[in-house]
Amino acid sequence: EKGGWSSFMAKEVSEEPEAVANTIRGRIHEGRVEIPELDGMDDFLADIDRILVIACGTAAYAGMVGKYALETWTRVPVDVELAHEFRYRNPVLTPRTLVVSISQSGETMDTLMAVKYARSRGAKTLSICNTQGATIPRESDAIVYTHAGPEVAVASTKAFVAQITALYLLALHVGRVRGAVDPMVAVEAVTELEAVPGKIARVLETEQARIEQLAHWMADTRSVLFLGRNVGYPIALEGALKLKELAYIHAEGFAAGELKHGPIALIEPGQPVFVVVPSPRGSGEMHKKVVSNIEEIRARGARVIAIAEEGDVAVLPAADEVLRIPLAAPLFEPLLAVVPLHIFAMGLAEAKGLDVDQPRNLAKSVTVE
Ligand code: BG6
Repeated sequence: EKGGWSSFMAKEVSEEPEAVANTIRGRIHEGRVEIPELDGMDDFLADIDRILVIACGTAAYAGMVGKYALETWTRVPVDVELAHEFRYRNPVLTPRTLVVSISQSGETMDTLMAVKYARSRGAKTLSICNTQGATIPRESDAIVYTHAGPEVAVASTKAFVAQITALYLLALHVGRVRGAVDPMVAVEAVTELEAVPGKIARVLETEQARIEQLAHWMADTRSVLFLGRNVGYPIALEGALKLKELAYIHAEGFAAGELKHGPIALIEPGQPVFVVVPSPRGSGEMHKKVVSNIEEIRARGARVIAIAEEGDVAVLPAADEVLRIPLAAPLFEPLLAVVPLHIFAMGLAEAKGLDVDQPRNLAKSVTVE
């Protein structure tokens, strides 16, 4: 079933382009996002006053990315919460709250219990799930399936990009229903989304071998830090999670702006730091700040591996290595920037001789609370 790949994970990373393309398919009509599964929900979606996203692990990071798109296009306030934290604090839920759960397996017990709880408290629940007929979608009021195809490796990769894709489609659908997103803006967003599979394929083509080489050189590394800002922040968290899960080394993700409030104390000579650099074409100011973060940690001896868009020359003097992603509108960068991090974690685990499909102590779907 691995079809010539060294692991299911390697196969599944190679399938990231199709995971996005298949999740989009059938949901865009003449530049408008129309999710057929949400037919008949317009009145409710027009009336919601809050969106709460609940999930665990990688799916929660997809939710954090989705928050930016949901707020941008729907203008509804969005909170993202770990499913296992949500139920134990008497959360505020009303009939106008849309609770969006995200789960690849659809069986994660923490997420399932949170969905049931939200429903019992009168909220409407929508499940973003990769497994047809799983328990969480069955227990939800509405379902938007991701079509990443079966994911076998324990660490989620293609499902992650499919989850972000589904959240963006949901944001554009709800934004349209509410009249919150300008139709021209929506058309541009759809064009960007449709271009993502080709751009991910390009990252795999141009950067995969280099990243694997880098991972090989770094096989003895004991700690890696990840920095990101805005939509790059959850990507930094995801990069760190993958490295812990697969390579069993200490890894932490930080919001780049938080650096000076603590984490910079960790920087000592030789410390590897991945930095997800926002496009200078988005917020030029944010880009400058991240570049100056790189300079600050470099001055303290960090070894910086930047993930930056093609043509961003400002990062060149600052970083030790630059991994390139194709140009995309800022909201779409996470779908590209995560790919080098998936490859890196897998490459480092392989360089250490570890089983990337079945990391120790982990299960693909955790069906206990
Ligand atoms: C963890 C898996 O236990 O569950 C992660 O190891 C996954 O890879 C998380 O992200 C959530 O799983 P699911 O199926 O609910 O998306």
